[in-house]
Amino acid sequence: MVSNVKSYTLIGVNAVEVLVQVDASRGMPGTIVVGLPDSAVKESRERVKAAIVNSGYPFPAKKIVINLAPADVKKEGTIYDLPISIGILVAQNIVSGKRLNEYLIAGELGLKGEIRKVKGALAAAILAKQKDYRGIILPAENAEEASLISGIEIIPIKHLSEAVAFLNGDIQIEPITKNLIENNFSFTIDMSDIAGQYHAKRAVEIAAAGGHNILFVGPPGSGKTMLSRRIPTILPPMTEKEIIETTQIYSAAGMLNGIITERPYRAPHHTVSDVALIGGGSSIKPGEVSLAHNGVLFLDEFPEFKRSALEALRQPIEDGEVTISRISGSVTFPAKFMLVAAMNPCPCGFYGFEDGVHYCTCSPAQVKRYRSKVSGPILDRIDIHVSLPAVKPEELAKMEKGESSEKIRKRVTKAHERQKERFKKLSFSFNGKMDSKAIKKFCKLTEQAEEILNRAVKTYALSARAYNRILKLSLTIADLDGSDVIQPKHIIETLGFRENISTN
Ligand SMILES: Nc1ncnc2c1ncn2[C@@H]1O[C@H](COP(=O)(O)OP(=O)(O)O)[C@@H](O)[C@H]1O
Ligand SMILES: [Mg+2]
Repeated sequence: MVSNVKSYTLIGVNAVEVLVQVDASRGMPGTIVVGLPDSAVKESRERVKAAIVNSGYPFPAKKIVINLAPADVKKEGTIYDLPISIGILVAQNIVSGKRLNEYLIAGELGLKGEIRKVKGALAAAILAKQKDYRGIILPAENAEEASLISGIEIIPIKHLSEAVAFLNGDIQIEPITKNLIENNFSFTIDMSDIAGQYHAKRAVEIAAAGGHNILFVGPPGSGKTMLSRRIPTILPPMTEKEIIETTQIYSAAGMLNGIITERPYRAPHHTVSDVALIGGGSSIKPGEVSLAHNGVLFLDEFPEFKRSALEALRQPIEDGEVTISRISGSVTFPAKFMLVAAMNPCPCGFYGFEDGVHYCTCSPAQVKRYRSKVSGPILDRIDIHVSLPAVKPEELAKMEKGESSEKIRKRVTKAHERQKERFKKLSFSFNGKMDSKAIKKFCKLTEQAEEILNRAVKTYALSARAYNRILKLSLTIADLDGSDVIQPKHIIETLGFRENISTN
């Protein structure tokens, strides 16, 4: 007799259905698994046998063939321990097959029949809902993430015997119902921790408001890391959709410890491999760009990153997703993040920031070489370049604390709402994502503002790219100001970011 148990596998962050078929027939006792299983699936045979026997069920002295269908999608890991066990018990009439059609089943087994968590349970719940299944039977540890999806039964299981009793109708298991997502901010850091640095803080607010990427240039200790760390605190809370997307990525990466409600902040070291940054590996995993989805990707010591890594950032910055190609097919991961980069002005860190105590010791050639490590194409995708001089310690103490993150966040949120409305028919929702066509369409200037901009173009010999960058930023400043048109003061503030003008 052949028993069919429904389960899933992950392709990228999404789940697709896998049918686990078990056939027990007369012949040489033994178990074989077919259907493109990886080595972990093969090991599953041993765990399944031990778990069945140690849970007090007989293991059939028969020839057992386990088929994972469809055969052409890669299956990995430990998801199938529970479905295979159930299949074997159905084949022996120990489990009734009646409810099997209604649920997706997944779980790793320990040798005593205890059930351990699996990757991608949230994606599996989404699949169960799409396919109109009644629910999903899964490890208790995975129930919280799966409960983000309403309208299906999330049945948490701790032991093989529980799954058996449930499927036989001997026990009732209360489905886990949807968690009300509490999006209360629990940041222990705040923008008000930063004394002075009004120019940089304003730049950060504009960047956060318009979805602009930002680069800090400054000597060591000037607060580049400190400021970056606080950017998630001024972004609006994630929407439910964003929470599900981000949690799904961490779930697929096997990195989930509870639902992710705070915007991610990822700060990979500059020695990070291309695979760890962009995604990939033998069992394709999301990289840092995807782990930063809906949040901030901070790249400190920007010029120290390998050129190949910086080049590879271009696709996710442009498209908000990253595609990893393999002979076996390609996988796309979401990767929509705000890029925050930081660098010293030169190898020693003080070129242009000499303060009477520190002097730059680099040769002009060293400074030039250091700066040229960051390629033009990636710099073009960073709208705001801001320099950050250090505040002297004795001055720090005297300086006033700035505004709270909460206050700034309110303004940022309003600016986001204006952009959502503006771009509602388009595929993007931030000023920072406008191409030159969109810039022409949406950046309306008053006559006087236009005059000022034209004068700046002549004075500074601005390139078309710098011109567009000024328009994008000015529109965000206008949004923060609640204005539909770009006024002279908005252009003037943008021109105040002088660094921006010099980097055409
Ligand atoms: N404006 C500031 N307000 C408060 N503390 C500051 C400020 N600037 C620097 N600091 C202090 O200096 C430390 C070093 O800053 P950091 O962000 O690591 O600098 P960088 O990344 O530019 O080298 C911070 O942890 C903080 O204690
Ligand atoms: Mg730092």
